[in-house]
Parts: sequence; C-alpha cells; structure tokens
Amino acid sequence: MDLSAFRTLEPLCWRAPSAHNTQPWRLRYEPDAIRVGWDPDQALKAADPTGRDLRLSLGAFVETCLIVAADAGLRLEYVADHDDRNRRVGWLRPARYRYRTSFRATDVWERRTDRGRFAGAPGGDALAVVDLVARQAGGGVRAVPRAGRLGGLLRVADRRLYADPAVVAELRHWLRLDPAHPDYHADGLSDRCLDLSRPAAAGLRAALGAYPVLRPLGLPRLLAAAGGDPLARGGAVLALIAPDGLDEAGEVEFGRVLLRVWLTLHAAGLAAHPLSQLIDVAATRTALGALLGVAPERLLHVARVGRPIRAAPRSARRVGGGGRDLGPVRTGGSARTTR
Ligand SMILES: Cc1cc2nc3c(=O)[nH]c(=O)nc-3n(C[C@H](O)[C@H](O)[C@H](O)COP(=O)(O)O)c2cc1C
Repeated sequence: MDLSAFRTLEPLCWRAPSAHNTQPWRLRYEPDAIRVGWDPDQALKAADPTGRDLRLSLGAFVETCLIVAADAGLRLEYVADHDDRNRRVGWLRPARYRYRTSFRATDVWERRTDRGRFAGAPGGDALAVVDLVARQAGGGVRAVPRAGRLGGLLRVADRRLYADPAVVAELRHWLRLDPAHPDYHADGLSDRCLDLSRPAAAGLRAALGAYPVLRPLGLPRLLAAAGGDPLARGGAVLALIAPDGLDEAGEVEFGRVLLRVWLTLHAAGLAAHPLSQLIDVAATRTALGALLGVAPERLLHVARVGRPIRAAPRSARRVGGGGRDLGPVRTGGSARTTR
C-alpha cells in the first residue's frame, strides 16, 4: 500500500473527537509507516494534568484512521509504541488485510457530541451492546445508578473547576463564543456546540473576561450554575470502566474503545454528552466510584447518553470542511494540514 494514499483521507480522520476539540494528534509520514504523535501545545495541562483525556483522544483518532482507511479499501494497521518523552503513541503501517470493523466513514462524519435535550435514555439492549464493546477490551460500560445524586456531584465538580484560574484560562483559550473569532471554524468549543443562546454566550464571555476581579466575589459558583443542569436535559449517565492497573498505552487503547462505544451508540440513534468534570475532581470521582461500586481510578470517562431530539451542530476542525456542513466528500488534497 502506498502510504500517501492515506493523505487524502486525513480531513475525515480529523473528525475524531478530542477534549475541548484541541485536535492534539499529529501524523508524520516516514518511508514505511505513519507516526502518530501529539502536539504538547494542544494538551490541556490544567484541565487534564494526568493526560488521561489526551490519550483517550489520541486513541479515538487512531480508531477513526483505521475505520476511514478500511472504508476506502486501504489495508492499514496500527502498532502501539507508546513513548511519552518523544510524544508518540504508535504507528499506522501497511497491512496484509483491511482493518475489520462494522463502522463506515459516514458514521465518522455523522457522529457528534450532543449537549442538547434527549427524548429518551438508552434501553437495556443498547447498554448491553456497548458494555460488550468495552468488555472485549477488558473494561465495561455501566449506567450510574441513583442518578438523582449526580446533580449535586456535578455542581461540586463545576464549582471546583471554575475556582481554578488555570483551568478557567485554558477553557477561555479554547472557547469560541463569537463567530468572529479567528478560529471559530478551526477548533475549540463554539457557542453553537455548547448549545448557548447569543445572550448566554455574550454573558459567559463577559464573566470570563472579568474573572480575576469577580473570582473572590463568588464568580465560580455563578459560572457553575450558569450552564444549567445537564441532567435535566434527559438521558442516562454511563461510565466507561477500565480494567485494573491500566497504564498510559492502555489509555490510548481505551480511546479506541471509547470511539467504538460512541459509534455504536450513534448507530443505535443515540448520542453522548461527556461530563468529564465528574472524574476530573477527586471528591466527585470517589463518590461516583462508590455509586458504581468500582475503584475510582478505574473510571475513564463519563457521559450523559440519550436519543437526540434534533441533530447537534457539527463541531469545527482545523483540517477539511471546518464547522461548515460540507459533507464527507470534501476529503480532497486542498485541505491545510498542520503537523
Ligand atoms: C476524552 C474526551 C473528553 C471529553 N470531555 C468533555 C466534557 O467534559 N464535556 C463536554 O461537553 N465535552 C467533552 N468532550 C467532547 C469534545 O468537546 C468534543 O469531542 C469536541 O468538541 C469535538 O466535537 P464532536 O465530538 O462533536 O466531534 C470530550 C471528548 C473527549 C474525546
């Protein structure tokens, strides 16, 4: 297989999800393989100090590359080769066979995070299927019981995070609350994707601008309340649970699992709205672990999942069609790639 054939597919691969939509992955074409690494400037040093979400995002990208390549008839495989110091997770290289997957490029294109209202929660069948997807890798997916207690935990987590100036500065850096922002169609979290009305987006922008002054006056509490209660928007809360003692390379593997879980949900007409703050804050992570009866360190990802009532806006990308709805056909070579 000629590796350069993969280049034209890159824009579609960039549809992979990443925390804060930073798109941290970087590909480098070498004679016999494509190196998959990451750009430290796109890592969330304050919000994701352990790098868990970075590695999940990189794994999700790897799985996306394999699906897109397989759908285009390319025989590509992934070889994990984690090297934190050199910022490498592994290699994509020519293979004897096409990657075996039931997902198609159109699934990659259509899947999206949905922070809006859900008409229903996943049924037992859908839950069993995504649990099986994770169990095949030694993990599991479980619905959080007594989800009524989660509202309080979410408020605690949000307040803790909004009280941390470094986390807030980082969030502000990646927020795209005004369509005039130069990177509105490139990356980050837009007002539309966050399901914010124009006045709400303007209010949030003003509040974050005044953060240093207003922080001691209780702004973190206000900011935490301003987003409303995501749990009131319906759905069930699911947790992705890791096997015991998962290492960094294992987290990348579970990023691949996470993508398969999301695409499985998508195929069942469901969507996910991650609530990572619940496991970013030690106290709420412990409480969530207790609700699920698992060790807190095994909690890898948490999301509200349900049946969307309308298609969520498509998020922006630095490569390819950006936030504009141009369809998966725009995978041609004119796209700007940043490596
Ligand atoms: C590991 C990981 C953690 C995430 N955590 C959150 C989160 O806590 N809250 C949220 O609203 N979105 C979260 N997201 C969703 C991203 O913001 C989203 O994938 C990105 O903006 C791209 O949008 P898309 O998924 O619609 O393509 C997370 C995504 C990943 C991969």
